[in-house]
Amino acid sequence: MPLYHTLGQIPHKRHTQFRKPDGTLYAEELVSTEGFNDVYSLVYHLYPPTRVKHIGEAVNLTPKVAVARNMQHRSLLGYNTAPQDDYLQSRSIALTNADCQIIFAAPRKSMEYFYKNAEADELVFVHEGTGTLLTGYGELKFGYGDYIHIPRGIIHQFQFDTPNNRLFIVESFSTIRYPKRYLNRSGQLLEHAPFCERDIRLPQNLKTHDEQGDFLVQIKKEQHLYPYTYASHPFDFIGWDGCCYPSIFSIHDFEPITGRVHQPPPVHQTFEAHNFVICSFVPRLYDYHPQSIPAPYHHSNVESDEVLYYVDGDFMSRKHVVKGQITLHPIGIPHGPHPGTVEKSIGAKETKELAVMVDTFRPLMLTEAAMQIEDKEYFKSWMA
Ligand SMILES: [Fe+2]
Repeated sequence: MPLYHTLGQIPHKRHTQFRKPDGTLYAEELVSTEGFNDVYSLVYHLYPPTRVKHIGEAVNLTPKVAVARNMQHRSLLGYNTAPQDDYLQSRSIALTNADCQIIFAAPRKSMEYFYKNAEADELVFVHEGTGTLLTGYGELKFGYGDYIHIPRGIIHQFQFDTPNNRLFIVESFSTIRYPKRYLNRSGQLLEHAPFCERDIRLPQNLKTHDEQGDFLVQIKKEQHLYPYTYASHPFDFIGWDGCCYPSIFSIHDFEPITGRVHQPPPVHQTFEAHNFVICSFVPRLYDYHPQSIPAPYHHSNVESDEVLYYVDGDFMSRKHVVKGQITLHPIGIPHGPHPGTVEKSIGAKETKELAVMVDTFRPLMLTEAAMQIEDKEYFKSWMA
């Protein structure tokens, strides 16, 4: 996102001669978004990024849609998604539309290949696990509660410290940004924003890999995976600068905004993209009006499918919620607190809940994988 950053060596002037110790030129690459109209970085490689040796058979990853028109409250048990050794194979698309896809993943092993999503930004929320995201731009250590933002086009590799990893991934077909209303005219986060630049972790520890051989980069585009074999290591950057690179924001650094009466979901907003937003519900003090009701009111979400991913703590408005569970409350029918939770919330001083919400402005479709982890009785849960 739009903070200027630089690592390694770069020439004083862009698009000028920049030579290796042996006198040959480094290969300059402009990594730009929306053509030339949005954020970009200038990268300097040891070798040109174009040296393709082999292209394998494409693999179709298009999710099989089970419910194309959803008109029912749903609940999915994300932790029932089976762990798998391989990172890409472990990714199970549960919800999808033309703007985004919501994915559960429980990878057990680090990647021995490289991955690039050519058409979507990825926001990887780390529910369980620690490790390092390796990129040509540098490294990012990650752990519980981190939102790892990987802009489209960035080749990366996940290294996990242990086999116990649980990831909640949002794949966005438009650029993921911090909300515009949090930013001043120069792109700096404003005082009223619930986080600031100090909370955003940038790539560090750039290591230049001068290696030649066979390097498999799995490239995702139009729901297919293309295995490309390159002749040099993708992380051969000698240096780079710009505003397009991977970064991390931890949900634990989100400072909640509270009030005398119930605050609406926009106070929890963390990211925005075309046709959807992402919000963080974090431990916070409850409303302090003497007559306040901390539990949320019933809500007719007329123009938004609401996905809530439960991370940790107790969930004041829901019963029988477990870690890794999703509720999906679609456009068209109201939802609200479960019976008994409104009275129970009165007088409570604080909540420990931790959750991620994805509100999509167009309906989501459920996949066959989603139906396998569905709590099929959820829509009746207000009758209890
Ligand atoms: Fe709602």
